[in-house]
Amino acid sequence: MYPQEIISDVRALNDILDVVSTYVQMQPRSGNHFGRCPFHQEKTPSFSVNQDKQIFYCFGCGAGGNVLNFVMRIENMDFLTALKFLADRVNFTLPDKKNNPSAVRQAAQRELSAELNKKAALFYYEYLHSENDDAMDTRDYLEARGVDAKLIKRFGLGLSPPEWDGLIKHIPDANPADLVRAGLATESKKKPGQYYDRFRERLMFPIIDNRGRVVGFGGRILKTSGEKEAKYLNTPETNLFFKSKQLYGINIARKAKSPEIIIVEGYMDVLALNKAGFANTVGVLGTALTESHVMLLKQINCKTAVLVLDSDAAGIKAALRAIPLLVAGGLKVKVLDVSANDSGAKDPDEFLQKHGRLAFTKVLAEAKNHITFQLWLEKNNHDLSTTEGRIDFTTEAAKIIATLSSDIETDAHVKEIAQATDISPAAIQGEINKLKGTSSKEINLPRNLPLLRKTEDRGLRDAKKGLLSLVLADSHAAKALNKSGFIAPDEMGGHVYEKLLTLAFENAENNIKPAPADIISYFEEAEEQQQVAEVFFTSQQYSDVEKALNDMAQIVKKALIKSKMMQLTDLEAIKHMQIQEKSLLQQYISMSDG
Ligand code: CTP
Ligand code: MN
Repeated sequence: MYPQEIISDVRALNDILDVVSTYVQMQPRSGNHFGRCPFHQEKTPSFSVNQDKQIFYCFGCGAGGNVLNFVMRIENMDFLTALKFLADRVNFTLPDKKNNPSAVRQAAQRELSAELNKKAALFYYEYLHSENDDAMDTRDYLEARGVDAKLIKRFGLGLSPPEWDGLIKHIPDANPADLVRAGLATESKKKPGQYYDRFRERLMFPIIDNRGRVVGFGGRILKTSGEKEAKYLNTPETNLFFKSKQLYGINIARKAKSPEIIIVEGYMDVLALNKAGFANTVGVLGTALTESHVMLLKQINCKTAVLVLDSDAAGIKAALRAIPLLVAGGLKVKVLDVSANDSGAKDPDEFLQKHGRLAFTKVLAEAKNHITFQLWLEKNNHDLSTTEGRIDFTTEAAKIIATLSSDIETDAHVKEIAQATDISPAAIQGEINKLKGTSSKEINLPRNLPLLRKTEDRGLRDAKKGLLSLVLADSHAAKALNKSGFIAPDEMGGHVYEKLLTLAFENAENNIKPAPADIISYFEEAEEQQQVAEVFFTSQQYSDVEKALNDMAQIVKKALIKSKMMQLTDLEAIKHMQIQEKSLLQQYISMSDG
């Protein structure tokens, strides 16, 4: 990793508007530049660049960051590659890598974990190819399951030996504590200082991130007899491995450069689909799909996600939960049920074994869009031979269709439901209109409560963002707020806001003022960077800074008190809190003294 100064230099030499303009046509508007967002589909430009602050932010999809983040995202590069790319662009020669503070130490830790995991992957791979009996048995097992040598190589499959310390002995120069941190070893509880391998006698699936680093493993049990051990053992959460942020096979799917990505549940399913020619497949690692997963998919330019989840109740539940996340990410979503038409298969691996690649290609082409899928599920819940069943089904169907914004799609589904129920399209459309219309009017109804809460939250969020952008820009305001003790960083809610307020306070005390684009690079995760960019894009000119500071601080403080109060069940405590609230809210933050 390079020192922060070098990163700042490269960033400063590359004007963000220049760089963005080579990809997106930008037009000046009200102090910023706007264009059509390259990270999501849109008709009207909501992607903006602020040249003063050297940051970008999309009001449509929330993408945001500095020029480095932009290049990483649009070119699909990791940080270092993007840094080199931008350095080359301005003929800046990067110096030899040097060490510096804690961020660098953490990065080094992660790199060490990645290195150890890579060594482990190689060790397991070699062991699988050895002449030991267990290795030969495992190769037979794989062959029987249709996993050929090419697949073994492509996915770097391996085998962990049965010894307690096979891996530890193989990497003798590694510090055992580092192996524990990398998720490869555990320390004995009974005998501290005694370490043993985490993975033993398991078929090893290395998990590789989209930068190509081995970040962890899934280990499948091989012996069928014996104790009741879990079928799969995964790397625990480490400094490098978060199963809710990784997708198995992403490194391969990325190279397939397909706008359509198939999402499956198991390691073996990813393998089977790759064998059948679908390299554009990723697997979730025994968790529900998360927003981080959706972001990953978008990073590899996925436009359509095909959910091929196991066809049991859990698989269907998982699909229903994944759909809104994928839709919110701007992706087209299709769902494929491999058990349909009595295929006799519970997952894609079984389907391919039983029916082969051509049959799969056919059902894949017929995958239902997510609305059709949800309607189909709902239909199975009702008895359409009775009038009552048909009405109930139509009511539920209207709710599903009402989530669509496109009139054309709505119309198509209305006709579909009309046909299935013999209820007139006009009546169904009327029901949908009613659902769409009421959601903003009848705020008394309980089902509109979340909507109400959302607008409240937005006011609070705006105040937090406003407050942060004010104190980040104005060191007097930052000092005054800090001195008043009115709001502490850890009260800001969430690690990003906490860190930003801490930075604002520290920078004001040290009389330094880093550029917004540099503050963004203190944050590593794309989500965090977006939040920071969002904060900087809320800044405004205030004629009376002190008043603005007090107004926003009051809103934030009030909300804090309210949420604390909501958690109290004891009347005395509530009364006490109310008195406290009054005096707190009378406090005025003065910027003149100090
Ligand atoms: N899984 C897990 N821990 C378990 C069981 C399952 O993490 N104890 C995750 C794994 O990622 C696994 C996925 O859930 O790949 C799906 O489980 P399953 O269908 O049982 O596994 P397959 O990958 O299909 O493996 P196999 O065909 O060999 O049974
Ligand atoms: Mn399976």
